[in-house]
Amino acid sequence: MTQKSRNILVTSALPYANGPLHMGHLVEYIQTDIWVRFQKQRGHHCTYVCADDAHGTAISLHAEKMGITPEASVALINTERKRDFGEFLVEFDNYYSTHSDENRELSESIYLALREKGHIARRTIRQAFDPEKQMFLADRYIKGDCPRCNASGQYGDNCEACGATYSPTELKNAVSALSGSAPIEKDSEHFFFKLTDFQQFLQQWTRSGTLQDEIANKLAEWVDGELQDWDISRDAPYFGFEIPAEPGKYFYVWLDAPIGYMASFKNLCERRDDLNFDDYWKAGSEAEVYHFIGKDIVNFHCLFWPAMLQGAGYRTPTRVCAHGFLTVNNEKMSKSRGTFITARTYLDHLNPEYLRYYFASKLNSRIDDLDLNLEDFSQKVNSDLVGKVVNIASRCAGFIKKAGGQLASSDAEAELSGEFIGASDRIADHYEQREYARAIREIMALADKANAYIAEKEPWALAKQEGTQQEVTEICSVGINLFRLLMIYLKPVLPALVQNAEAFLNVAPLSWSDAGHLLQAGHSINKFKPLLSRVENDKVEAMIEASREQQAEHAAPAKAKPDSELAREPIADEIEFPDFAKVDLRIVRIAKAQHVEGADKLLQLTLDLGGETRNVFAGIKSAYSPEQLEGKLTVMVANLKPRKMKFGVSEGMVLAAGPGGKELWILEPHEGAQPGMRIS
Ligand code: MSP
Ligand code: ZN
Repeated sequence: MTQKSRNILVTSALPYANGPLHMGHLVEYIQTDIWVRFQKQRGHHCTYVCADDAHGTAISLHAEKMGITPEASVALINTERKRDFGEFLVEFDNYYSTHSDENRELSESIYLALREKGHIARRTIRQAFDPEKQMFLADRYIKGDCPRCNASGQYGDNCEACGATYSPTELKNAVSALSGSAPIEKDSEHFFFKLTDFQQFLQQWTRSGTLQDEIANKLAEWVDGELQDWDISRDAPYFGFEIPAEPGKYFYVWLDAPIGYMASFKNLCERRDDLNFDDYWKAGSEAEVYHFIGKDIVNFHCLFWPAMLQGAGYRTPTRVCAHGFLTVNNEKMSKSRGTFITARTYLDHLNPEYLRYYFASKLNSRIDDLDLNLEDFSQKVNSDLVGKVVNIASRCAGFIKKAGGQLASSDAEAELSGEFIGASDRIADHYEQREYARAIREIMALADKANAYIAEKEPWALAKQEGTQQEVTEICSVGINLFRLLMIYLKPVLPALVQNAEAFLNVAPLSWSDAGHLLQAGHSINKFKPLLSRVENDKVEAMIEASREQQAEHAAPAKAKPDSELAREPIADEIEFPDFAKVDLRIVRIAKAQHVEGADKLLQLTLDLGGETRNVFAGIKSAYSPEQLEGKLTVMVANLKPRKMKFGVSEGMVLAAGPGGKELWILEPHEGAQPGMRIS
């Protein structure tokens, strides 16, 4: 049966660039990656893009905490992310950042198109303002006592103690979580996207089969009730894109974030001849666009986003696929219990394909939460993958090798092989519908049948008798062929394992249609090497222990990290020598060091380069007092483009090393060093 090849663009939500990836995130990226690999294996033209979500207050505050610019922080996290995803075998066609030229251009043009059509309104709103930080405060950055039960230290708009909801202005003894000062109220003009203009469109769109029923039902509360216009602007200082013709006003991060899907795709189109931006995004496009997201961000993807696209004259998504949240051992991931497991910590201890398999065995097309039960995890991986699937090959391979390495015909067991081949469409359908747990159940039922067949035929017993070699080879050839079919079906989930199996089977990369036939008599196989080892419980325990330790370190920032922890800091992407040579490192004398009014991390340094002086702001206040620095030699990047900071222009950067806090050391060259000397 030939099938028309589809053009499909797939996205996963863009993870915020303010912290490491964790097991919860991986539910989504693994779910999406399996679907994409499945489509590609079926021969469809499928493209998977993602990006870091780089904008907003959370990201700039994270950078500030690290003592670096948001751009630098985002770049660092981007490198780390790409490596983590790669090791989990999540294979994007493009992984970009929302802080990109493409995204700025698209965001501006979409906004302008919406404004042109009258979908943007201006309104003055009154908001909490931090007089010390000189910035407006989102609800989550205001802390105070609950107006109902007086519980202290409650954030923003709801009380964790009594469950009351209120407006942040009702909090008692409110303070800014950023500076500790009491917020004042201040007016500001904001821009709103008039979602109300799209009520009819949304009523129809949300019920057009694009969404899961449970989501469509939930959204009906809004689309059939009262839709609210959406505030899309934020005031400076804000890390994001400035709104065209509105100095000091920025797009709210959630405006440009989904446009980041288009921008990442656009960036990819520039280097791929087979992809054209308009073919996928213009109104009426026949290409499919699939968004995979978590249930917490449904409103953004199922109300604002389709309305924005519709309003700006683009096509709307084919489908939005939402999944539930991950719990670990049936509880919310917890730092103190050691169940807040980062992608990196997992990779330090366990094989990523274990997790891919475990998630696949639990995922369905609904938005139920799913649980990572660590006991069940080891048990399932060991019994299914090691005990059932890999076992088929390891039981059969040796006998065939001994008989010369060539397969016999499998015709003898046409019925059994036929059953395996016949399962292909059903399993494919489960993958297509994101019913991975069902696909895995079917595949494991087949694996049970293959094992039962081999157990019944007992080739190992036969092999001890005279003149049975042909029969033993036939039995084991059936086994190897069944194993090969299982590999085809498991390939979206276990790409690395299947790649090794392909080498063992001596076959080209397995496509889905290869399930329509068996390997022919005379086909030679290669030596069998173990494809997967068992999950060891002490490794799981070590992973939990390591996660607990990380929490302890974060809780006590004064404590220096052990060397092993430092060694785990990701190394950035490789650079060419000419790139390195561009950095002009100079010895400088710290002529003067002073406190900066209002800055809690920075010192202002006057650096003497041997004739020339530079003004540099360095985030080293936690480690040095100004007197300790004056007169010292250090190393600076002398050709860094001057950067305007809140307190003035910084003309370079001094080099320091250490985990942070008090444990931060500037480099101090000695032995004949003179200010102005170039380091090479
Ligand atoms: N930046 C936004 C998405 C913008 S999309 C235009 C965001 N980022 S996030 O880092 O918080 O989350 C990224 C994805 O991971 C989201 O789809 C979110 O639902 C998912 N998950 C984050 N924690 C999760 C769990 N504990 N469990 C399952 N998925 C989770 O939201
Ligand atoms: Zn309360």
